[in-house]
Amino acid sequence: MSTSEGTAVEPWGNTVRVEFDEDKIAWVHFNRPEKRNAMNPTLNREMYATLDFLETDDRCAVLVLTGSEDSWSAGMDLKEYFRETDGQPRSVQNKVRTEGTNWQFRKLLSYSKPTIAMVNGWCFGGAFVPLVSCDLAIAAEDATFGLSEVNWGVTPGNLVTRALAETIPTRDAMYYIMTGDHFDGRKAEQMRLVNEAVPADQLRDRTIELAKKLTSLSQSVVRGAKMGFRHSRLMSWEVAEDFLYAKHDQAILFDTDARTQGMTQFLDDKTYRPGLGTYSTAE
Ligand code: COA
Repeated sequence: MSTSEGTAVEPWGNTVRVEFDEDKIAWVHFNRPEKRNAMNPTLNREMYATLDFLETDDRCAVLVLTGSEDSWSAGMDLKEYFRETDGQPRSVQNKVRTEGTNWQFRKLLSYSKPTIAMVNGWCFGGAFVPLVSCDLAIAAEDATFGLSEVNWGVTPGNLVTRALAETIPTRDAMYYIMTGDHFDGRKAEQMRLVNEAVPADQLRDRTIELAKKLTSLSQSVVRGAKMGFRHSRLMSWEVAEDFLYAKHDQAILFDTDARTQGMTQFLDDKTYRPGLGTYSTAE
């Protein structure tokens, strides 16, 4: 999106809220708190435009996806995403569905910057797709999760089931998909749906700590490392070998200094140990 002068216009402000801080963390909020941040078609479009915009915005080195007020996201909007598209032509339904998946996994799963889901409250149904699509996830211990679809008479929609198969053990996935029981952040951590669960009053600080760790490293190397893992797991070993070495070489090409400094400071200067920390980027 741009003005007639060519200046980019920030595409959020209605159903998505974005804040920046001095650590180059972009805090992207689901922003329909009165609807517990349920994702309606407008939010899906706005979130895609927001993510797209932030990929080239230098204020964003790490993207944190969180929710306004007491909810992360209550999943797809039952009224606007489901009921109001019932009876619409199939082409309209397909468009609405694709606009959801466009950002929830197409954009987010291979996002060019590190992403962290900071789950601050309710997280239901369709919200599991962006949750899993984020690279890392931290939840409040008292956040509430659920595959609630069976509770209102449908199977898990969108790519929820695929996202679960990617992340949590089969027994847990089957149990929660089939019963619709809800669970808390501690259980989500236990199942590895999130990296960790922390008391709610520590959630933001812990997220900042993790984000700063990511921004302290070479961005090209972090990107190559995450893409390597995301994509190679579905490849044969032979194809993965070729792809991963290409990623390896690409990361060096984009940031030669990181590797040079990393080796020099360890092998020659002996100022750090890579097994125990990272090299210094100080001038
Ligand atoms: N879709 C549409 N509207 C939703 C919604 C959703 N997924 N989740 C919440 N809302 C709306 C409610 O209809 C209500 O709207 P209203 O004020 O116009 O009546 C408003 O958000 C507040 O919801 P309410 O249920 O009163 O809030 P709560 O704090 O008591 O409960 C939840 C929160 C999340 C437990 C509850 O709203 C809920 O179960 N939502 C549905 C979750 C779900 O099954 N999602 C899966 C979708 S795939």
